[in-house]
Amino acid sequence: MRRPMVAGNWKMNGTRASVAELIESLRLQQLPAAVEIAVFPSCVYISQVLDGVNGIEIAVGAQDGATQAGFGALTGEVSPAQLADVGCKWVLVGHSERRLLLGESDEVVSRKFSAAQASGLKPVLCLGETLEERRAGKTLEVVERQLARVLDDQGIAAFESAVIAYEPVWAIGSGLTATPQQAQEVHAAIREQLSRRDRRVAEGVRLLYGGSVKAENAAELFSMADIDGGLIGGASLKADEFGAICRAAGN
Ligand code: 13P
Repeated sequence: MRRPMVAGNWKMNGTRASVAELIESLRLQQLPAAVEIAVFPSCVYISQVLDGVNGIEIAVGAQDGATQAGFGALTGEVSPAQLADVGCKWVLVGHSERRLLLGESDEVVSRKFSAAQASGLKPVLCLGETLEERRAGKTLEVVERQLARVLDDQGIAAFESAVIAYEPVWAIGSGLTATPQQAQEVHAAIREQLSRRDRRVAEGVRLLYGGSVKAENAAELFSMADIDGGLIGGASLKADEFGAICRAAGN
């Protein structure tokens, strides 16, 4: 049995005051023990969030990490070793906003995945097609290519301590959620691709769906066979909504 997971990607949002408020409200939520829960604040607030969630079952991750595991001359980057040092457990790798707006290639994503694991962090590898790619019938091809790069470089065993998030770009922040069937089709293809390398590992990897997940559509998405939880953007900034999504993953 795969333990469901719900992750909140706060993106480039928040101030010290609003982060404090959000944590206070999250502490009041009934969070299901059966679900692994993590939040991904902006880097500058990670320590504040770690202090704030002390004593409750919420892990903290970063939205990005550097391509190299150690320390060195890389101005402006944050080493995954530093993220691990302050107490992060997770890191997002290859979010579409970084791939598309900041030009991160499959190769860079693969290096970030590797550096994260070398530092003891668990990567959440994000995959997903644009609207143009979906309309051209290339969804499965694009997602397969993105995953293949990491699989070829890092090997299937690397997925024993990683999570994959399928986030169709057209569904992110748009209010347009993939239907449960559309999401399931891609999730099944991802698991099949992993399974061709190692069936046991494939069965254990958690596949999260992301893209306009809300309390009202979460349960239906999470009921699909290969959807093991969600990566939540906008709705993770509202404690009530995020709590309800976590509870939906636990049912
Ligand atoms: P939204 O939930 O705001 O669509 O964002 C999804 C996402 O990009 C999470 O990483």
